[in-house]
This record gives sequence, C-alpha cells and structure tokens, in this order.
Amino acid sequence: MGGSAVAGDVVADWLSQHGSVPIEVIKDYHLPNNVTPRSLVVAISCSGDTEETVSVLLEAVKRRVPCVAVSSGGMLEQVSLKHHVLHIKVKMLSSPRSSLPFILVAAARIVLNALGDNEKEIELTRCGEVIREVGKQVSTETSTELNPAIELAKKIRNAETIIYTPTVLQAAATRFKNSLNENSKTHSAVEVLPELCHNEIEAWRSGVNDWIPILLRWSKEPPEVKNRFEALKSVMRNKGTEPLEVLAKGNDHLSRLISLIYLLDFSTLYLAKLKGINPLPTPNIDQLKKKLASKLSYLGKHVPK
Ligand code: PA5
Repeated sequence: MGGSAVAGDVVADWLSQHGSVPIEVIKDYHLPNNVTPRSLVVAISCSGDTEETVSVLLEAVKRRVPCVAVSSGGMLEQVSLKHHVLHIKVKMLSSPRSSLPFILVAAARIVLNALGDNEKEIELTRCGEVIREVGKQVSTETSTELNPAIELAKKIRNAETIIYTPTVLQAAATRFKNSLNENSKTHSAVEVLPELCHNEIEAWRSGVNDWIPILLRWSKEPPEVKNRFEALKSVMRNKGTEPLEVLAKGNDHLSRLISLIYLLDFSTLYLAKLKGINPLPTPNIDQLKKKLASKLSYLGKHVPK
C-alpha cells in the first residue's frame, strides 16, 4: 500500500515487458485466485504494520505460496518469523515513502533473483548515473531558475493537476500523485494513454478547465505514444489549456522511471514549502489507520503474541 506499493509498481512496469512471467501489484487485503504455489509473493510494508500487507502474507502462507517479506520490522517481521518466511529488513527513514530507495532495491533484487535475470541487474546498477544527474539539478543548492523541480512547483502552486502518462511510465505517475497528496496535501489524478483518449479528454471544455495537465514523456517515445501526446496537446490547446511536460532522462526504462520519480518527488517537497506546509506528517492517514485498527483489530486477531 502507499509508499511501499510504489516499489512494486516500479518493478512491475520495468520487468513486465521483459520476461515471460506476469507481475501483478496487489493493493488490497486478499490474493487473487490465480496466485498458486507456482507463484512468488513479495509482501512489502516499510513499517511492517500495514494490515492489508500482513493479510496478504498470511493468505499466501495458508495457500502454500512461496513468499518473501520486506519491512523495517513490525508485524510483518513477526509473522515471517512465526511462519518461517524469508524476511528482508530494510531501513526506514523519516517516512515509508522517503524510504523508497531501500524498498525498491530489495524488491527489485528479489524479483530479479527469482527470474534469474543478470541483464536487468546491470540496469539497476546503471540508474545510479541518472540519480546523480537529477540529484544535482533538483538540489536545494541549485538556483531556482536552473532547478526544474522548483520551476514545476511554482507552475502548479495554485491549481490541482491531472498527470497524463503512457502505460510504461505509470509507476512514476502514481508516485507523483501520491507525493502530491501526501507531501503537498493536494488533490491530483492519473490518466493513462491511450485509454484516456477514449473517455477523459471529453471532460476538457472551453473556458471551464481549472486543472493543470502534466504530461510525462521521454525523448525516444515510440510513434504511437508521441503521436498520441501531440494530438492530445492540440485538443487541450483548442480548449484553452496549455499542458506542462516533464521529460524523463536516461537510456533505459528503469532510469527513465527513477529520473521522473526523483524530479517529481522533489517538486512536491518544494510545493509544500511554497504553501507553507510540513510535508512529513500525514495526520489523515494516521487517523484512518487508528480508526480501522480499533474497528477491525485485524493485526491483533491474526498476529502472533
Ligand atoms: O508513505 C507513506 O507514509 C504511506 O503511503 C505508507 O507507505 C502507507 O500508509 C503504507 O504503510 P507502509 O509503507 O508502512 O506499509
């Protein structure tokens, strides 16, 4: 769920077009029926105390599906110990979402190892280059006019956003939406190409658009993506809306996803600063988790004492 699920989203976007094994990200309490003892379940919760994730792990154990758990501790670690599930301990920084690098590398290594894929392992190491490059650009030490994350934050300061993404960059779009919600405390939505061209664009009408569209793109888009985006831009412009574009960096799929996530995450932090908001606390999420914990008392019922 949330910041932990993004690691799964990235791995799925990155590897699903590669091998022959389907990868599905479950953001709920239950495993789908197609998960069998021939599957591998990777249960990820940075805190280890997310009831949906613990529930999925318990179901996997019950159905004798091989599993690995990733957390900084919490109930997920306890359940793993009790049921002899391999548990990988990761570091938790100030929040689950800011710990993404640790969770992502753990999740990626588990899946690559299961697939026996050395070629993609190289991509994982190589994305360090793009991290260094984007890191310099978005740094607080880089002046405002040269800092694309600050520039973007300034442009979206007074509006809500819709993120338009091709399927292959969906993980970066989801992460951006989540970070706008959690860090900047603002609404946002994700729309995916080409599907949005068959429904969502109808909502754009002359003179009544108060959302800012942000298009996630990269320089070597295949023609079906490039042409769609260009056509979409012209429809939006005809309705009086000028979309913003953010260009991914890097020469491979993973680098493109990571470069976008890095830049866009920073823009949500700068946006919080512009709005005078502390990006770290998530009081609504905490309140909801507490309410559910006392209502369902899920963890209390299922987790070993
Ligand atoms: O980033 C956050 O704080 C949230 O989105 C959490 O990731 C989410 O609530 C799930 O918690 P956890 O990642 O600890 O399983």
